[in-house]
Amino acid sequence: MASCRLSRSLCLLLTVLPGLLSQSTSIGPNAYDSLIGLECSQFKGIIEAAGRQLRYQSSTPLTLFVFNDTAYNRLPPYMLNTLYDRESPNNAGAEEFVSSFTMKGVMETSSFSDAQPYSTMSVKSRKLFLNKRNLRIGNVASGRPGPTKYFVNGGIIIRPNIQAGQHVIHIVDRVLPLTLTDNALAYASGYNPDALV
Ligand SMILES: *[C@@H]1O[C@H](CO)[C@@H](O)[C@H](O)[C@H]1NC(C)=O
Repeated sequence: MASCRLSRSLCLLLTVLPGLLSQSTSIGPNAYDSLIGLECSQFKGIIEAAGRQLRYQSSTPLTLFVFNDTAYNRLPPYMLNTLYDRESPNNAGAEEFVSSFTMKGVMETSSFSDAQPYSTMSVKSRKLFLNKRNLRIGNVASGRPGPTKYFVNGGIIIRPNIQAGQHVIHIVDRVLPLTLTDNALAYASGYNPDALV
């Protein structure tokens, strides 16, 4: 680059700037159209089974917690069949599954708090439990500080904060089962109108 004769550090800045900027660039126009590129075609398939393409192509801010195809392919066959109710009228089972892993609004990992469960779009009021842990390398008490990891319902978020239009996608390392429709206290006290599924 001829202009790099000007200043070495300016030249370096111009070289790395596009890379830095691209980190905050949206990977696609919306969540739905980004799932194939993220290797999450199975989750996309459940959105289609639910007939909810428009919701995930909209410009309404949403946050999604999705598994990738590798995680899906590792599921044992009996879990594949019971992931959601495929026989339910109006595809309510698929709808409930995708809605239970979708939150309204934008939730980046920097805002995660384990102070309370988060509401999802589930009509059965299923919640998500988000938290953050600072792992330690070596001994739990005396080890060196390790990486910060983010969790949803006990699954580790392996690719956080992927921006797709107005949507934020977090890729989780496993296929999470649906949470209970009642909170833990109601369940422990015996008030559990829905069986564990
Ligand atoms: C998919 O998830 C698995 C873990 O579940 C991970 O090892 C792999 O890197 C992920 N692939 C992509 C493309 O994100």
